[in-house]
Amino acid sequence: MNRSEQLFGRAKKVLPGGVNSPVRFYEPYPFFATSARGSKLTTADHKTYLDYCMGYGAMVLGHGYSSVIEAVRSQLDNGTLFCVPTEREIKLAEMICKVVPCAEMARLLNTGSEATMHAIRLARAFTKRKCVIKFEGGYHGAHDYVLAKAGSGAASMPASEGVLEEASAQTAVVPYNDPAALERAIEKNRDTACVIIEPVLANIGLVLPEKRYLNEVRRITEQNDVVLIFDEVVTGFRLQLGGASEFFGIKPDLAAFAKALGNGLPIAAIAGKREIMSKLAPAGAAYQASTFAGNSVSVAAAIATLETLIEAKNAIYPKIARTCDSIVDGIKDALSAAQLDCTVNSIGSMFQLFFTGEKVKDEASAKKSNAAIFRRLFDELLKRDVFIPPSQFETCFVSYAHSEDDADKTIEAYSEAFRRIKKQQ
Ligand SMILES: Cc1ncc(COP(=O)(O)O)c(C=O)c1O
Repeated sequence: MNRSEQLFGRAKKVLPGGVNSPVRFYEPYPFFATSARGSKLTTADHKTYLDYCMGYGAMVLGHGYSSVIEAVRSQLDNGTLFCVPTEREIKLAEMICKVVPCAEMARLLNTGSEATMHAIRLARAFTKRKCVIKFEGGYHGAHDYVLAKAGSGAASMPASEGVLEEASAQTAVVPYNDPAALERAIEKNRDTACVIIEPVLANIGLVLPEKRYLNEVRRITEQNDVVLIFDEVVTGFRLQLGGASEFFGIKPDLAAFAKALGNGLPIAAIAGKREIMSKLAPAGAAYQASTFAGNSVSVAAAIATLETLIEAKNAIYPKIARTCDSIVDGIKDALSAAQLDCTVNSIGSMFQLFFTGEKVKDEASAKKSNAAIFRRLFDELLKRDVFIPPSQFETCFVSYAHSEDDADKTIEAYSEAFRRIKKQQ
């Protein structure tokens, strides 16, 4: 029995399902990590994997990025949690307001789920309306109003027990990439407070917006006075410095950030229009609070991350996109050589494969992918020292630390994996 198997046996006794987040489990047991550096993860069994999970997108600069680690280290000597305001929180909010197109004000929080939950409450407080519209396959965290037809781990499960029917009843779900469906849903429900959307779906595999789709979403929400929330938890500071909003040139009313903001430290933010943000307590009457919000260690990590991203944006974003493109080009060549039916979606530093001949443009088409082949791919890649998220309904992430040599090894691993899969078909 290897060390990971032993550890999983122990974990199951004290951690439900042996893990602290469902997407981390896969049959028969996940490998356990001991350390991570750059583009690589090391396991309890002394194996080293090229990592394309990258903290589900959080590690935009790579594991253990030196300026982030330095900033955390030096902050530790000065205290971790004050629960009174600090100048560095202002600095971080100013940086967010400088780079995020819709941001006139920001509120710091800890996780993406918190950010979307409070952005929705804020939209309700601002509009004095109740209902939420989300998209099939869109994932916004694990809270009650957004779990209907959600992506990520929830995509492989029946509707979650314990979610109040009364809460779900306030959420309408429409297909992505279908502006007419969104327009109809808003017309049908004049009590709609907000539309929350991942501008690029990254939790049902990777699904891109069709041309002008996001412009249409903006037009429809604006014409109906509905608050548009971009969930940029994945795309923020990753797709571009100013997230999907900068990438596509569209300004939502509010945006939620987490993941890449702290390059591996837990930190999140809501940012947006001053008139909406001012509704947050104590300025306004929409209550949101958190003991750990703005804690010094996470803030130090986020400032160091943003400083690096701002300073080197002209090097970082083109580089990670180039590395991702070369991996995707290599994968596409290997797929045609192996004669496998597969659609590859990619944008910026993100990519995912779907084993279907159809174009993947929404949840319904994503779910046509052959899950058994995807699972074979995951196993074959792992045998070749490449770790991708263990689910079809996630996305692979390239970081600034991934080198050309990493890309070549990755293409080689995919090519061999495809040959094995084809042989056994
Ligand atoms: C788009 C999106 N929104 C929200 C969340 C929730 O973030 P967290 O896991 O930090 O609560 C996630 C997590 O994967 C996400 O991908």
